[in-house]
Amino acid sequence: MRDIIIAGNWKMNNNTQEAEILVEEIRQNVRSINHVEMILCPPFTSLSKVAELTKETNIKVGAQNIFYEDNGAFTGEISARMIKELCDYVIIGHSERRLLLGETNQVIGKKVVAAIKEGLHIILCVGETLEQRERGETQLVINTQLAESLSKVQEFENITIAYEPVWAIGTGVSASVEDCKKGIRTIRSIIEKMYGTLSMQSSKILYGGSVNPKNIESLLSEAEIDGGLIGGASLDPENFVSIINKSELFYSKTSIND
Ligand code: PGA
Repeated sequence: MRDIIIAGNWKMNNNTQEAEILVEEIRQNVRSINHVEMILCPPFTSLSKVAELTKETNIKVGAQNIFYEDNGAFTGEISARMIKELCDYVIIGHSERRLLLGETNQVIGKKVVAAIKEGLHIILCVGETLEQRERGETQLVINTQLAESLSKVQEFENITIAYEPVWAIGTGVSASVEDCKKGIRTIRSIIEKMYGTLSMQSSKILYGGSVNPKNIESLLSEAEIDGGLIGGASLDPENFVSIINKSELFYSKTSIND
């Protein structure tokens, strides 16, 4: 049996009022979901509101980023310690932060360590750009991203990896199931090399990049794909709920490791 994870990355969208409307619509429609771990990742400004609205529901909450220090003179930054009051999850290493904000694997590695210290569950994003893919560097890029950002992590616990090929994010063109499988297999083999077979077997690997209600079923029908990190489609309650409902049907699919 495998439980599916569906995480909504709202990115820089929704003020608190809009967040409230979106959560209400999702909340009402996912009450009977038992086998999908649902995580909403709103902007920092709505974290508190979303946490309050999802209290005592089956929906979990995550932040989209953290800084790696606990506190101090870091204008504009938010620490793991601060978000821990509001949520249990955090996305680290999203490609938009890598590419637009210059986050390196080293910085991401420090954030991973800070999140672990606070007991947060990490969704760590990796994936190649179109240029890297065309140069045949996909495996190398994933390897470097994981090796460098996990270099200070002793045990592979509370970490979910999201394979997000940059060329598939926000483009409406999802990676093919074959490409997803290749990326995810690469990730699993790196986890095995770094942390051993047991960690590899228990690891959860998500796919992200233009996931929508139309392609979720073909993605999840591959036992290697444990769920999705959803951007655009998570902002539309109908689409997001439809993705969740379809995912619920796959819960009993046998895991590749069984
Ligand atoms: P998308 O974004 O679903 O809009 O492609 C996914 C992501 O960036 O996590």
